[in-house]
Amino acid sequence: MSAAAGGGRNPSPAPEANRLARKRVSEVVQLLHGAARAVRLYPAENSAVRKVLTELGAACDRIEEADRQFELKRAGNDLFINDTRLRPGLDNLTAVNAVIAMMRNHGVGTIALRARPTHRDWVELLGALRQAVGNVPEDDRLASVATRLDEAGVQSFALGPTNEGLDEVETEVDGKERSRQTYMRTVTVTRDIFRSARAGGTVGVRRVRRVLRGVVDQVLKDEVSIIGLTTLRDFDEYTFVHSVNVCILSVALGRRLGLSKPQLLELGLAALMHDVGKARISLDVLNKPGALTEDEFAQVREHTWRGVLALFGMPFGAFRPWRAMVVAFEHHRRTDGAGYPRTRRSRALSLFSRIVAVVDGFDAGTSKRVYKDIPWSPSDVLRDMRDCARHGLDPVIVKAFIGMIGIYPLGTVVVLDTGEVGVVVGVPTDPSDAERPVLRLVVAADGSRITDETTVDLAVPPADGRPPRTIIRTEDPERYGIVVTDYTT
Ligand SMILES: [Fe+2]
Ligand SMILES: [Fe+2]
Repeated sequence: MSAAAGGGRNPSPAPEANRLARKRVSEVVQLLHGAARAVRLYPAENSAVRKVLTELGAACDRIEEADRQFELKRAGNDLFINDTRLRPGLDNLTAVNAVIAMMRNHGVGTIALRARPTHRDWVELLGALRQAVGNVPEDDRLASVATRLDEAGVQSFALGPTNEGLDEVETEVDGKERSRQTYMRTVTVTRDIFRSARAGGTVGVRRVRRVLRGVVDQVLKDEVSIIGLTTLRDFDEYTFVHSVNVCILSVALGRRLGLSKPQLLELGLAALMHDVGKARISLDVLNKPGALTEDEFAQVREHTWRGVLALFGMPFGAFRPWRAMVVAFEHHRRTDGAGYPRTRRSRALSLFSRIVAVVDGFDAGTSKRVYKDIPWSPSDVLRDMRDCARHGLDPVIVKAFIGMIGIYPLGTVVVLDTGEVGVVVGVPTDPSDAERPVLRLVVAADGSRITDETTVDLAVPPADGRPPRTIIRTEDPERYGIVVTDYTT
């Protein structure tokens, strides 16, 4: 389906035109979601409603100008505008899920523009798509939306049914895109797990199993692209994005350590749930900027045993997630017996706990948090984990982890001895080349920005006889205005 799903083996980002088209699609979907919420909260003449509808109209105009048409289409869990597939990301995930749900609930497969909609037209459409379906049979829902618009005299939209055949689109996407879908689905389900755990409810275990199977399959099939996605970080929604990253990296590491597929599924569950106890801790404490008081810190430490209780409460049926409970309890304990929670008798940490502790330390160390402005660079965190015995991590697992993601993991921004700046887009396969990854150069020696897709493999000596480039230090991507995920996903 169109060039949007392309990509192939090249680690470089899609051409500029594709990226722009995708950005426009994402913008429309986010505005549509924003407008739907505004229309629900305020009367149509409210200035907030008018503002978002004006922006939505302008965003649609831009697409219509470029493509000469505008058709929003849902195929399964994908959204397209004209031929451009929307790429769900952490920035637009809520909007994408909401728009898909609105369309699916009402049997709407396509929304095309016949004429430029007025504000009133949008308000009517969004009202119709947000109305409860009640006991309207599934086959009649689209007609009921169309009738409502007709009766209101709205002519600017042409609605079409869902073309279920289009659901097959998923089989055509390449590994990279499939990894992205797997990642975003896992984030959505994990968010639901945390939300419902916070509200005292439960989440469908079948959904959890399904996303875990997706993660394990994707790690087995295309490890590089799904690991690349763990460089995605979302500041506001830290806990569950962190949980997804820890899940993916733990499964990949478990595979390196020779675990079987059923073991990987169990490890994935344990890793995904390791911090689920945080759902039982006050958000004021979890998101508090600045240092925690001793009392608050004690509350945060409670997430370990609270996680065990939360797992007991989940409807796993006959299956008891014992290993996940052990990991929830143990992941902050250290191999030397230190850490928390303290227990009277010390017991060797389980293998799963040791794996999750290493990955957890890495992901937490490299993330930006409310109390930490500048995250450590991934390579500094790895070196610290390797060299600092006081962390109490299992050295064999740390070594395997570094072997897996490289001392300069994907997405690390590095400065070279030539003065150039690059982003790591490929990890060396030979461990003796650990310090020589593949880079996309983004800043030239004279400080100018490099816009073409120049890739250099530091392990390969330059053909012109010059000495090979060497990494002299890592840098905070923000210093150079670099969005790491533009290069790694
Ligand atoms: Fe934790
Ligand atoms: Fe954690």
